[in-house]
Amino acid sequence: LSSQDLQGRHVLVTAGPTREPLDPARYLSNRSSGRMGYALARVARRRGARVTLVSGPVSLDPPPGVEVVPVMTARDMRAAVREHRDQADIIIMAAAVADFRPVGCADRKIKKSRAPDTIALSENPDILKELGRERRPEQVLVGFAAESHDHEAEGRRKLATKNLDLICVNDILGEKTGFDVDTNQVLLIDWQGQETLPLLSKEETAVRILDRIRELLP
Ligand code: PMT
Repeated sequence: LSSQDLQGRHVLVTAGPTREPLDPARYLSNRSSGRMGYALARVARRRGARVTLVSGPVSLDPPPGVEVVPVMTARDMRAAVREHRDQADIIIMAAAVADFRPVGCADRKIKKSRAPDTIALSENPDILKELGRERRPEQVLVGFAAESHDHEAEGRRKLATKNLDLICVNDILGEKTGFDVDTNQVLLIDWQGQETLPLLSKEETAVRILDRIRELLP
């Protein structure tokens, strides 16, 4: 039996990619499978928390006992997160939110014969940055950083500019880390210090991240 050290806490987790439509058949997205966020939701629930999981399109089973809120685009995810954030004691943004979306979604499939040379993009809202700006001080706010270079510096920059308590930096070039694999290796950075976790399953990584979060709770 795992310890119930998150009993009485409400945890809001985001997971998976967002999908930004270009026409009824096509979209822009990324390689996130949702595994990291689902593992966090599952482990938090097992440790007694009430868990809301805002999930982009993934092919994973919903974790038992977790309220799943399915979303498609970054703007949908923003709305769902804003709806649930006030009740949350802990918010963990493990989703890979698309930074850009096609400017408009065509209402008919774009024909090959009339293909545009370029796709115009506009910037999506930064959900985590907004959460950091508008947060309650007693709320624990956790981000991820998906990096290919300068992991520690990028992690520190995101910790500060997004006003977070903790950031989990993972390498997206590694064969066993980051997107769409069952394992991960995470550098945890908070305002006290930093710790590099070993290469672990995403489940075990989630346990270690929640151990750290528990120490940050007021
Ligand atoms: O889903 P898996 O296949 O298991 O892969 C896991 C993962 C690699 C997706 C995950 O571990 C991870 O790193 N998630 C964050 C991916 C990401 O978008 O990182 P980023 O460095 O671009 O963004 C930094 C933080 O801001 C993230 O917490 C992100 O959720 C958030 N963000 C980013 C952009 C945006 N428009 N809004 C946001 O809230």
